[in-house]
Amino acid sequence: MNIADLRREYTQSGLDRKDLAADPFEQFDLWFKQALDSDYPDANAMSLSTVSTDGKPSSRTVLLKGFDEEGFTFFTNYNSVKGQDIAANNQVALLFPWLQFERQIRICGVAKKLSPQQSADYFLSRPLGSQLGAWASDQSKAIASREALVDQLNEATERFKDSAPTTPEHWGGYKVIPKTIEFWQGRESRLHDRFEYRLTAGTWELNRLQP
Ligand SMILES: Cc1cc2nc3c(=O)[nH]c(=O)nc-3n(C[C@H](O)[C@H](O)[C@H](O)COP(=O)(O)O)c2cc1C
Repeated sequence: MNIADLRREYTQSGLDRKDLAADPFEQFDLWFKQALDSDYPDANAMSLSTVSTDGKPSSRTVLLKGFDEEGFTFFTNYNSVKGQDIAANNQVALLFPWLQFERQIRICGVAKKLSPQQSADYFLSRPLGSQLGAWASDQSKAIASREALVDQLNEATERFKDSAPTTPEHWGGYKVIPKTIEFWQGRESRLHDRFEYRLTAGTWELNRLQP
C-alpha cells in the first residue's frame, strides 16, 4: 500500500451561492440537522485549535454543546492546556470534518467564558459520573498511574456521597464568537465548492473561495 495513492473523488453534492442562507448560523443549522438526521457519528465532535503564549498551535477534539446566533459552545477544564491558551489568547479555530458527507466547516473567532451560572446549568444536567469525573481530573496534568486517577475519583465520590456535586470553579463553558465561517463541499477533480462568511462592519459578507 502506498499512502501517496490514497485518494478518492468527491461526487456527492455541490454547493451554490443560491443554496446558502444569508446568515451563516442558519446555514450551520441546516448542515448540522442534516448530519443529525443521518445519524452521522459524533456529529457534534469538533476540533478546537488554540495557540500557546509562545506561539505554538495545538488541536484537540471537544463536543459542541449548543449554538445560537452569537456562537458555538463547548465545556472543559479552565486549567487545561486549552484553558491556559485561551486565557492568554482567545483567538481559536473550530473544525467539523464531516468527511462521509464530503463536507467540512471551519470557524475562526474568539472564545469567551460562559457565566458561572450558564456553566452550572449545564454541569448540573450531566450524568453523575461525568460530574465526578470533572472533580477527579486535573486535566492535562501528568499522573503516575491509572490507579492514582481512580483514587482521585474515589476521593470525589466520597466528598459528594451525601450531596449532589457542585460545579467546580475550574470547570465551565466557552462560547466561540465567529469572525469567519467556511462551508466546504468536495467536488470532482478537486474543484471543490468553498463559501466563506466573513463578519465585516456588523454584516456577513459571503465569498466563494478557490479550492
Ligand atoms: C470525541 C471526543 C470528545 C471530546 N470532548 C471533550 C470536551 O467536550 N471537552 C474536553 O475538555 N475534552 C474533550 N475531549 C478530550 C480532548 O480532546 C482533550 O484530550 C482534553 O480536553 C485535553 O486537552 P488539552 O490538554 O489540550 O487542554 C474529547 C475527546 C474526544 C476524542
